[in-house]
Amino acid sequence: MPGCLVVSGIQWGDEGKGKVTDILSRSADLVVRFQGGANAGHTVVVGDRKVVLHQVPSGALNPAATCVIGPAGVLDPETLLKEMDDLAAAGVSLGPDRLFISHATHLVLPYHKTLDALRERARGESRIGTTGRGIGPAYEDMASRAGIRFADLFDTARLARRMDGVLTERNAIIKHLGGQPLDRAAMVDACIEWGRKLQPFVRDTAAVVHAALSSGRRVLFESAQGTLLDLLHGTYPYVTSSLTAGPAAFPLTGVGIPRDPLVIGIMKAYSTRVGAGPFPTEDEGDVGTWLRDKGSEYGSTTGRPRRCGFLDLPLLRYAVRTCGIGALAVLKLDVLSGLAKLPVCVAYDLRGRRHDVPHPDMLADPALKPIYEEWDGWAEDVAGIADPAALPSAARDYVRRIEAGVGVPAILLSTGSDRSHTILVRDPWA
Ligand code: IMP
Repeated sequence: MPGCLVVSGIQWGDEGKGKVTDILSRSADLVVRFQGGANAGHTVVVGDRKVVLHQVPSGALNPAATCVIGPAGVLDPETLLKEMDDLAAAGVSLGPDRLFISHATHLVLPYHKTLDALRERARGESRIGTTGRGIGPAYEDMASRAGIRFADLFDTARLARRMDGVLTERNAIIKHLGGQPLDRAAMVDACIEWGRKLQPFVRDTAAVVHAALSSGRRVLFESAQGTLLDLLHGTYPYVTSSLTAGPAAFPLTGVGIPRDPLVIGIMKAYSTRVGAGPFPTEDEGDVGTWLRDKGSEYGSTTGRPRRCGFLDLPLLRYAVRTCGIGALAVLKLDVLSGLAKLPVCVAYDLRGRRHDVPHPDMLADPALKPIYEEWDGWAEDVAGIADPAALPSAARDYVRRIEAGVGVPAILLSTGSDRSHTILVRDPWA
């Protein structure tokens, strides 16, 4: 009976981590976002209410769950305050008794967003297609020890000193890239104001999570983005700037490895990617268009159309191996209804050699060819089905073949965006 679950995306993000976290957090005491920032867009739908969470954990809609943002996330205070206001307007109260932010969390500040946009412009054809949320520059500052952390907001003299050094250098780069330098005094004032509003939420979150784990409370870690966007293990350089693979949750939060964690791999029944980078099973033809239209495949943060394509078992195997996935959640099965045949990539060929578990570095090689099998599709509309017996046999077979193909059982199937459009095959907390 695991007391600790990790929700980990195993494709290129947008797999449905928000929905799964929302469902599993109904039995959780703590829900922890441990990396990333406002680049994420985790959607939770309850009845006719749709909430897109960017920085707040997707346990927010369950009043009994305490929400934690750990020290390895990068938080944009301006958009966080707006997100909290929006949630309050939607009737979700997230006061300092329910939302904890680590004192060591780095801030995403306006100069990070300016730099993100300018760097993308300078990259030209080889741009990454970032979300423009300042994520890369904020993590650069973390790594180069120039970041501003929440703890810095509460000591004006120290904040002004740090900002002096940091902003002088960042402004030089902004000017070099053709941008408008930012005013230091205005930045310090804004930080002090954000600090004043957010101070009640700030604490030593590692101590909170450790105490919960050691007293047997249920802790759910929620990753953002997907394994193939992981800074170390993804399709570098077309990745985000944080460690997205599920097991990173423990070192990034600052706790040891709990006794029996279950890492749940969240995947769509097909593949999507937003932004640039290799995507060997992308379909720019009719099926890709069908998936985008029927699956509403537009970024929940940026609104950009997502690139769509066929299921990729070799890359799923890679992500399962990388993250130590013990169970799968397969989402968006309803989108496939009506497709008679479903091409599925089962392995890759690279100059005559078969690869069942390719490394993402191989994907950019133009000689790499997906090996497809055609699986049967189903005509029946499965939208909203919550009873496994009501699924057409071809849909059940599709899931069984995924399980066999990656060697992990599926414990949750999703047939629509609402909470109720879910088949919970096995409760992972039980
Ligand atoms: P960044 O994280 O904004 O720096 O963007 C780097 C890459 O990750 C780009 O290809 C983005 O489209 C992608 N990305 C970042 N966050 C998400 C997400 O939440 N879902 C899907 N793609 C994402």
